[in-house]
Amino acid sequence: MPGCAATYDVGEVRTSCAKCGSLLDIDYDWDSLPVPNSLADFEAKWSRRNEPLAFSGVWRFYDLLPFAPLAKIVSIGEGQTLLHPSNGVAKFVGLNEGNLFLQYEGMNPSGSFKDNGMTAAFTHAHTIGASRAACASTGNTSASLALYCGVSKLMQAVIFIGSGKISYGKLSQALDYGALTIQIAGDFDDAMHRVQQVSVKQGIYLVNSINPFRLEGQKTIMFRVLEALRWRVPDWIVVPGGNLGNSSAFGKAFHELHQLGLIDRMPRLAVINAAGADTLYQLYEKRGLRWNGGRPDASIINNYYAEMDDANRRASTIASAIEINRPVNLYKCLRALECCHGVVREVTDEQMLDAKAQVGANGLGCEPASAASVAGAKMLREQGVIAPDERVVCILTGHQLKDPTATVAYHTHDQNEFNRVLGSRGVNRAAFANRAVQVENNLEEIIRAIELNS
Ligand code: F0G
Repeated sequence: MPGCAATYDVGEVRTSCAKCGSLLDIDYDWDSLPVPNSLADFEAKWSRRNEPLAFSGVWRFYDLLPFAPLAKIVSIGEGQTLLHPSNGVAKFVGLNEGNLFLQYEGMNPSGSFKDNGMTAAFTHAHTIGASRAACASTGNTSASLALYCGVSKLMQAVIFIGSGKISYGKLSQALDYGALTIQIAGDFDDAMHRVQQVSVKQGIYLVNSINPFRLEGQKTIMFRVLEALRWRVPDWIVVPGGNLGNSSAFGKAFHELHQLGLIDRMPRLAVINAAGADTLYQLYEKRGLRWNGGRPDASIINNYYAEMDDANRRASTIASAIEINRPVNLYKCLRALECCHGVVREVTDEQMLDAKAQVGANGLGCEPASAASVAGAKMLREQGVIAPDERVVCILTGHQLKDPTATVAYHTHDQNEFNRVLGSRGVNRAAFANRAVQVENNLEEIIRAIELNS
């Protein structure tokens, strides 16, 4: 926090400041570090792709997150992701051809952006000699932690999940990779609260995004976006908001690049909540909460949380990944919104699923939460906040196969199934449903069905 001068050694294990209680930041003494003269210098690493750390889409940017000794880095080739220009999605969003890019983080080893941050937190855990690592999760963080533990055999994964709050794709990963899985009666916020207590009591290393090393790894998503755009800063970065780790990390990434003179301007940032889990939207857009030079008005937050508790209102959205009431990185996200002249929007489950279907129809599948970015970009276009000739990058945070239940229900011809999974969420129609054609097991009927429908 500005005004709190407390600093801690990189070898310490803590997530918040003992003095002021706020989350910690990783700060570098850039003057004594070998910072490249230009971002294009990183391209030299491409010719050394046989070296694991040059191959990794996170660690080839080591100079911009130099917190660990090279020998301790645990990498499994994360960050081999795509920036895909999509004219089909541009049309849906209302942008000119060539102006919409999808940063597809589903290509990571565990199928979501989390691996960018996990390799960094896991590396720090390894540096300090941890034998167990824990997280609370809506599914992707736990899948990622379980994967790093399974591959490296350096630590045991202990994961906390809310009951009935995690998609089968993600749960299956944690179970398959051998994580100790604690399913508690409650939701993500309950699990988050408990994992913090347990990790302190039992000395288990915590890898949720309150861990500042996680955010260092997630900065590299932005470095790869710039790399793919040949180091030209886009006009907008649009990202789903859950626990607000990504948005916080992106703000830090651009702030540092700007300070180091490696970029000459900042992009704007749009954080998109699900309407059923819209704490940031309510606080930022409706109640005027701002970073305010490092002193956000805590009474706005406390009042909002008290109202939420009094009304017993809990987050509820088909986008289970971002079904979160109390985002832990709220303050850091406010800082990112401040330095990137940001906006926050909320999109309904129906808008998200339609956007997801458009992403899928144009070739890159994503999970429901990821499509919040595309639905949010469309909303901002319609509102005239984003102009049609601006260059917009939407982050697709997780792979389509993470949550097939929502996808199949969206496309189903079975009204009961649609109602069970989606109707209960207030989704009334699926504008882009691609329904399976029902046909008798008869050659002529099958051929007729194909010819009729193609
Ligand atoms: N998209 C996906 C697919 C996610 O899994 C998450 C968060 C988010 C977006 C939100 O990102 O927290 O940085 O704002 N998933 C966490 C988890 C909470 O436990 O896997 P954020």
